[in-house]
Amino acid sequence: MHHFQYKRNSLYAEAVSIQEITHQMGTPCYIYSQATLERHFKTFDQAFSKLPHLICYSQKANSNLALLRLFGRMGGGTDIVSGGELYRALKAGIPPERIVYSGVGKTEEEIRYALKEKILLLNIESPEELKLVNEIAGRMKKKAPISIRVNPDIDPKTHPYISTGLKKNKFGINIHQALEEYRLAKNLPHIHIAGVDFHIGSQLLATQPFLAAIQKLKKLISQLIKMEIEIQYVDLGGGLGITYDQEEPPHPKEYAKAIIQELGEIPYTLILEPGRVIVGNAGILVTKVLYVKKGEKKNFIIVDAGMNDLLRPALYGSYHHIQPVIRKNRTKIQADVVGPICESSDFLARDRMLSLPKSGEHLAVMSAGAYSFSMASNYNSRPRPAEVMVEGREFHVIRKRETYAQMTALERMPEF
Ligand code: LLP
Repeated sequence: MHHFQYKRNSLYAEAVSIQEITHQMGTPCYIYSQATLERHFKTFDQAFSKLPHLICYSQKANSNLALLRLFGRMGGGTDIVSGGELYRALKAGIPPERIVYSGVGKTEEEIRYALKEKILLLNIESPEELKLVNEIAGRMKKKAPISIRVNPDIDPKTHPYISTGLKKNKFGINIHQALEEYRLAKNLPHIHIAGVDFHIGSQLLATQPFLAAIQKLKKLISQLIKMEIEIQYVDLGGGLGITYDQEEPPHPKEYAKAIIQELGEIPYTLILEPGRVIVGNAGILVTKVLYVKKGEKKNFIIVDAGMNDLLRPALYGSYHHIQPVIRKNRTKIQADVVGPICESSDFLARDRMLSLPKSGEHLAVMSAGAYSFSMASNYNSRPRPAEVMVEGREFHVIRKRETYAQMTALERMPEF
């Protein structure tokens, strides 16, 4: 469910017409619906209301400060993977005791920053990292609150680039080795064992892999109890998928119900790290048609948004629905929707049936709230797009369009 609907053949975000936004903001432009964001967050949060829990929104999906502040105000925390994301979280006013930090490559500076700010949990992903965290915490005369991210070796049946809980993936510590690490952690003077954690992948379309991972986790927890290791938190990561095209992922309520049932009565606080399911369908990318080029083999609709603005189709071959901002009665053509970047992988859609647009008209690329702006780059020296948040009848610019000057501001030319 989202708030991007046609009214008299004109696409709206809540009560604001997309055309009005593009008129003021230009294109390409990301547009988010606040009501959709709130609704998704609330639905997810309420689905777990039976248990003590914390929703740590995974900000890698979309780390704009306005979104972080919104979720923070709703009682949410955030899952981070870098010092930069920690900085954003704090800047947006998310309390440190609602921040969890995963990632296989945390640097010494990042670990120090996290300990200094007193975040809730560091999810440890390797034996070497555990030792380093202990050392740094010792130097800072602190105890580092940690959980070990276990790799449960479960196939999440999703795109190979976004599977993370398989033996062959770089993430987490093999669940069999994890016990050994917990034993080690117990004896480290500057480590406080606070929880267990996994994250098995993204865009999962069934509950079964989550349940299989939980079963393995439960075994581990019972072994920890035998070792007299007390934990307070169980972090189940993120990963619930959304509908881009025809997919039918479980509803968050269904997902939560299955998880709660599988976990049974537990005396721990549950942590969840949803990203895509909260923001994915709450955002669109609006782009302008520059040219329509009809070819012998293929037709191309050339638009002003490229793979630097929305990388997912180029990187994963992902599907994003594309629809006109103003619906007109036109003939349909089969075409590739492509950007201005000098690469053949620069496409937003391939062999798509679309109503034939004219140059200057606008298209909406749907489901572009997650892993869209956050993966944007300056490739081909293209300034990153503006971002707008619609709230009822109003809209707020939550990120200005980058300028050429900002794009080159950090570069220096030596006196040759
Ligand atoms: N927690 C951890 C430790 C993660 O690594 C991720 C995502 C999440 C939570 C959130 O997962 P979600 O609920 O959004 O599925 N760029 C890719 C997705 C990469 C996901 C990386 N990790 C894409 O565009 O599909």
